[in-house]
This record gives sequence, C-alpha cells and structure tokens, in this order.
Amino acid sequence: MKLRGKFNSMLLLVFGLALGASGYFSHRQLNENARGEVLSNASVLMETILSARTWAVNEVGPNLRETGDDEEMLMMGVPAYAAEKVMEAVQKRYPDYGYREVALNPTNVKHRPADWEAKIVNSFRSDVTKLEEWGIRQSAKGPILYLAHPIQIKQSGCLGCHTTPEKSPVQLVAKYGSENGYGWKLKEIIGAQIVTVPLSVPVENANRMFITFMTTLTGVFVAVFVLLNLMLNALVISRVSVMANIADEISKGNFEMGEFNEQGSDEVAQLSASFNRMRRSLVKAMELFNSQPGS
Ligand code: HEC
Repeated sequence: MKLRGKFNSMLLLVFGLALGASGYFSHRQLNENARGEVLSNASVLMETILSARTWAVNEVGPNLRETGDDEEMLMMGVPAYAAEKVMEAVQKRYPDYGYREVALNPTNVKHRPADWEAKIVNSFRSDVTKLEEWGIRQSAKGPILYLAHPIQIKQSGCLGCHTTPEKSPVQLVAKYGSENGYGWKLKEIIGAQIVTVPLSVPVENANRMFITFMTTLTGVFVAVFVLLNLMLNALVISRVSVMANIADEISKGNFEMGEFNEQGSDEVAQLSASFNRMRRSLVKAMELFNSQPGS
C-alpha cells in the first residue's frame, strides 16, 4: 500500500470512530434532554392540577355543604371537577396536553381506565411506596410522555361522596347513580392521575440539533482530510517521488538528470541535500574510476 493509502485509511478509521462515538453520545444526550424537558412540564402541570383538587376539597367543598347548595354548586367542591376545569383552561393554550383521572371503580364512567392506565393503577396498588411512574407511549399524534401519580384516599373528606350513596349528597347520587364510585376506603389507592404531554416537538428539535451537529462535524472532518492530503502531497509525496525517480535513474547509471532542488530545513530537504552529496561523490568516484589507466 502506498503512503497516501496508509495515511488515508488510518485517517478514515479515526474519523469514522470519532463520528460514530460522538453521534451515539450526542443523540442519546439530546434525546434525554428532550425527555427531561417534557417531564418537567408534565410535573408542573401535575402540581397545578393537584393544587386545584386540594383547594376544591379543603376550601370550597366544606363551605358549600354548609349552605346546602344545588347540584351545580356542589360540583364546585368536587376535586375531580376542579381538576377537569383547570385542564380545560390549560388545553385552550396547549391542546395537545392531556390529563386523566382514572379509578378502577369510578363515579363517572368516563374515568374507567384503559388497559395501559389500569396497569399503572394496579402497579401503584401493589406497591404503596411507589409515588410516580412515567414512560413513553405511541399515540395517533406521535409519541407522548405520560406521568402518573397514585390517587390515595388520604382525607376523610373524600369519603363524604365516595362511601355509600346514602352518605353522599343526593344531587350527586341523582346525577351519577348509586352503582359506581362508592366503597372507597381511607388509605386505599383507588386510581391514578395521568398527565400526557406530546414528545414530538422536542424530539424533532433534538433531531434537528443532532443533524446540524453531525453535518458540522462531518464538514470539519472533510476539510481536515482534504487539507492533510494536500499537505501530505506537497510536503512529502511529490518531493519523494521526484527523488525516487532520480535515484532510480542514477541506479541505472544515468547521471544526466539534474540535482534535487530542495529548499528548506525539513527532513525531506535534509534527505535531498544528503542525496545530492552522495550523488556528487558517486560521480567523482566514477570519474576517478574511469580515468584509471587500463579501466
Ligand atoms: C362533593 C363530593 C365529592 C367529594 C368530597 C370528593 N369527590 Fe371525588 N368525585 C365526586 C364526583 C361527583 C366525581 C365525578 C366527577 C366527574 O363527573 O368528573 C368524582 C370523581 C372522582 C375521581 C375520578 C374518578 C371517578 O370516580 O370518576 C377521583 C379519582 C376522585 N373523585 C377522588 C376523590 C378524592 C381523592 C377525594 C378527596 C380528596 C374526592 N374525590 C372527594 C365527588 C366527590
């Protein structure tokens, strides 16, 4: 293999490894960042909704029941209703953000969990120390990140509407019936809050950044490759080839060719100067040899 071939294959190997490694790590990092950003958005949304729920059950509900208001007013003290209203407002600005409050035995049947949601609720029920679960799912609109928290009956205030139809406000029993959403116990994990946030935009941004980064890096490598090849050619290969040709001719006894004309102080120039001296000595030796009588 010629010098250029050896040099270039080593260069390509190093560039290939460097591109592969930086591609792998930067892709992973960018995607992690995108997920982290979405997860923190989901957490903020979750906290907001949680605050609305707490406010409804602690502040609004007790006051309403004392005044014995109608169904519409009673709903103001229902934490799930407060959560739904907050979410409706959020969705005006962020229509792709979602929130579900699911229960295995829900008051409102639309809160019955889908299979994947039921799995989450059951995982919270089987491990009470687990306070959060998140993951990524495919939806019709692309990948979404979900963040789930367990709903545990921590306050006896909840049981005012979720124990038996008899104990619940009649207006609500009339609206939701006396079948579902009762029999919940204190400390029981009855369901989960699930926030969903679209991942497609941050992931697209991460991919765009990844492509820009890789294109720039490849550009730098191509420029370095071309530059190194030009330098290798000018500084070593073309000069050494000329020297090799002349040396070849001399080895065949042809002294007609001119001397190397190498300026500078680099190794090739030193080599050519030595070669020139050797050639002159050789010419002299040949002349001496030829001038010997009888030669
Ligand atoms: C004033 C009565 C009332 C109180 C108090 C109340 N809830 Fe409810 N809850 C309801 C009603 C009514 C619904 C159905 C609302 C709807 O249509 O979205 C509901 C819905 C829910 C849901 C959604 C699943 C389902 O059953 O439809 C959860 C979870 C829930 N409540 C948990 C709680 C917790 C936890 C507390 C205490 C912090 C609580 N509730 C206190 C009346 C109440």
